[in-house]
This record gives sequence, C-alpha cells and structure tokens, in this order.
Amino acid sequence: MNRLENWFCASALWRSFTRRRLLPWVLEGAGLGEHVLEVGAGFGAATEELQRRTPRLTSLEYAADSVTRLAARRQGTSSGVVRGDAAALPFPDATFSSVVAILVLHHLRSLAAQDRAFAEIHRVLRPGGVFLAFEISDSWIGRLAHIRSTFVPVDPAGVRVRLAAAGFSRVTVDFQRSAFRLRALRAAQAMFPGEHSAATA
Ligand SMILES: C[S@@+](CC[C@H](N)C(=O)[O-])C[C@H]1O[C@@H](n2cnc3c(N)ncnc32)[C@H](O)[C@@H]1O
Repeated sequence: MNRLENWFCASALWRSFTRRRLLPWVLEGAGLGEHVLEVGAGFGAATEELQRRTPRLTSLEYAADSVTRLAARRQGTSSGVVRGDAAALPFPDATFSSVVAILVLHHLRSLAAQDRAFAEIHRVLRPGGVFLAFEISDSWIGRLAHIRSTFVPVDPAGVRVRLAAAGFSRVTVDFQRSAFRLRALRAAQAMFPGEHSAATA
C-alpha cells in the first residue's frame, strides 16, 4: 500500500463510510453465520461493524504493522487477529460460516494469486457458507491511486468463471458506480463426487 492508501484506509471518513454505506450494501440479505473471516482487515475499518454482526470474528491481515495495530485495538474483544496470506490461509478446512474481503483482491500480486485466494476461501468455508467481497473496477483513477502499490483489478466480466473454477456456485456481481460487490456460495453439497459447480448466476 502507498502513503495515500494508508492515510485513507486509516481515516475516520473511510471507517464511517464503511460502516454506514459500504457494509450494509455488501452484506445486504446475506447471513454471516457464527464465525466470520475478514480477509485483509488493514486498519480495521470494517472490523468493529463485522464484530457487531457475528458472535465470532477472525481478522486476517498480511502487513505486520497493521496486524500489530489492529491486535492492540481489538484487545479485550472476542475477535482474533491473525497474520497471514489470503492465498495460503492458515486455517483448517470448513472453519468459517462466511468470508468477507473489502478492497483486498486487487492487492494480490497476480491473477494466479487471486485464484489461489478464491480456492483457499472456498476451502475454509463450511458447506453453505458465503464469500462476500467489494472491489473497484479498473480505471485511470484507480491506477493513479495505486502508484507504488499493487493494483491487479478483478475483471467483473470474468470473475464468475474464476469463482466457479474455485468451486463456488451462485456467483453474483452487482455494481454501484465504478465499484462492485461479489457474492458466491460454497454449495451445501456437491451433486457428484469431485464436482465443483456449473451453476453460476
Ligand atoms: C485497501 S486495504 C483494505 C483494508 C480494509 N479491508 C479496509 O477496507 O479498510 C487492502 C488490505 O489488504 C491487505 N493485503 C494485501 N495483500 C494481502 C494478502 N496476500 N493477504 C492478506 N491481506 C493482504 C493489505 O495489507 C491491506 O491492509
């Protein structure tokens, strides 16, 4: 992340927007269940609000300084903060009832790393669990804001196929201006042994 992103993601403005506008839209109508994994928690703009909506929250973050800062802020709460990589999640299979990733996927260094993250998220979800993400579309302003940072935009046109390849079904993509939310389900049970799913919405 560059200085602009660090400043913005730690700001009261972003925290407030995340709580009031972004999360209500991303989570709309989705049951989070009793153990949520937040991937790429950063400075925790979404963390408190997620904690309010679930009995148990685990927040994963790659950057060591953000982990230290977030862990200090979350001390005394029931949420856990873990250092790790979205593309190699340090959790057993079928641990979480849902996984939430806000503005994280474009920070993974390649499409292959994003695909590994999709497979990992599918693996750690329980059958019937949902993956919810928020992303920005590719744009010159997005590229400008990520100078000296990582920006591998997720192409919304291709993401259904990629998520289906990772095993997800019922993939939906909804837009608001130049951003979109992704929703995908780890089906409760495969119909055939070894089946991923062809049923993308
Ligand atoms: C734009 S910030 C968003 C942070 C937070 N979700 C928010 O909305 O404020 C992206 C975050 O993803 C984290 N990140 C980048 N690559 C990651 C990876 N491979 N695994 C986990 N987190 C990662 C970054 O360190 C950063 O904190």
